[in-house]
Amino acid sequence: MGKKILHIGLFGLGTVGGGVVKLLSRMKNENNKDYEFILDKVAVKHPKKRRSVAISPHLLTDNPQEILENPKIDIVIEAIGGINQSKKIILQALRNGKNVITANKALLAKEGELIFNEAIRNNCYLGIRASNNAVYRLAENLIFSPFKMKKLIGIFNGTSNYILTQMERKREDFSSALKKAQAIGYAEQNPSDDVDGYDTANKLIVLIGLVFGYFIPAESLFIEGIRKISYKDILFAKELGYKIKLLAIAQRKGEELEVRVHPALLIRDKGIARLNGIENGVEVRDEIGVEVGMQAPGAGKYPTAMAVLEDLVYIANGRKTSFPWQKKQLNLKDMNEIKTEYYLRFNVLDRVGVLAKISGILGNHDISINSVIQKGRGKGLNNAVSIIMLTHKAKERDIQNSLREINNLPIVREKPLLIRVEEGIC
Ligand code: NDP
Ligand code: HSE
Repeated sequence: MGKKILHIGLFGLGTVGGGVVKLLSRMKNENNKDYEFILDKVAVKHPKKRRSVAISPHLLTDNPQEILENPKIDIVIEAIGGINQSKKIILQALRNGKNVITANKALLAKEGELIFNEAIRNNCYLGIRASNNAVYRLAENLIFSPFKMKKLIGIFNGTSNYILTQMERKREDFSSALKKAQAIGYAEQNPSDDVDGYDTANKLIVLIGLVFGYFIPAESLFIEGIRKISYKDILFAKELGYKIKLLAIAQRKGEELEVRVHPALLIRDKGIARLNGIENGVEVRDEIGVEVGMQAPGAGKYPTAMAVLEDLVYIANGRKTSFPWQKKQLNLKDMNEIKTEYYLRFNVLDRVGVLAKISGILGNHDISINSVIQKGRGKGLNNAVSIIMLTHKAKERDIQNSLREINNLPIVREKPLLIRVEEGIC
């Protein structure tokens, strides 16, 4: 049998698209005898823009139809981001019988059901590895495992993990660490997606959609980001034996699903707490109690482009997309009902009886304190100190009610900070 030639139309030539072009040209030199990829056209928004990647000008176009209507093109790679335009491109490509690869988790979270169904209807491959580098191999196992997933915790956003790591290691503040992540190309076009938890939520929605056939509406998911975490909290957490990570958490009990995205304290030096920089990872426990995990770089030009290339090779090898596609309806647990331990930081006047007042309110709400640290003595006019408390397991509703009450005390100088503690998949 002769060599298989596959023609590609690429949308986008930014961080991801540029990486794909570079890796494709590297692959060309390797002279694979089974298949060859030919890049026929690259659609961009500004064809005249100066590029860091070398590309022949005759390949560039700003007309999507030059790719979508070209019968020679077998595979469309979408690396432009956004929702409306990318949705149109992907749907038209699938309807025209083209295999599609996308890194667009925001679109997949919003329109995953429609897009996966369109791929199945047209018997096309839909490659989504690049949309969540940390879990794609594991996702395939989870879909086909006869044993249901019970609990998953994951670090799904490279930018946030990079920022938290920089804050701890380099003692850098949040905004300068974010600027670096943007300059390297890790961050989304709107970095709020990264630091406010939406990108992590999108990746979790897609994963749950694949594993359970249920795409959770984003508005019903509890999402909190890392903006409120200060360098102080990272150090206090370290002193207590923890690291702070932005987590995706999913736990299934029967037909009830507890899903949430928020920063959390994790025991240091264990499992995904050890992942630094853009490293992403996931730990899963199934109903038998078997625990598996994996890690991968979660952002950046080459890690993402590599994931696109893996999907290209899958297509070349004639693999079909794997989804179980049985739509299920699961009940989402109300966030007020979750139970966990909490890290609380109060900025209060350094006065006799302050601690008793705070612990009294917590006690009235059924919250038991595990440990307390007070940092130094209040100085100067402000006379404020930080008090850090770790609670035993408590209900979210009780914690929120007690913090509202504590916040109204005249001795409180700053809104109390709450970070949940995550016990892991055990
Ligand atoms: P960039 O902003 O770096 O690049 C976007 C590219 O899309 C640009 O080349 C731009 O053209 C082009 N473009 C924008 N609109 C259109 C349009 N309507 N038609 C044709 N081309 C268009 O984005 P990234 O490469 O960082 O991200 C792309 C996608 O990959 C996003 O969905 C993102 O979430 C995802 N992703 C990104 C990762 C990363 O580390 N950066 C990792 C994993 C996924 P021009 O250059 O002419 O302006
Ligand atoms: N902005 C995303 C991140 C890119 O930082 O994880 C990878 O999906």
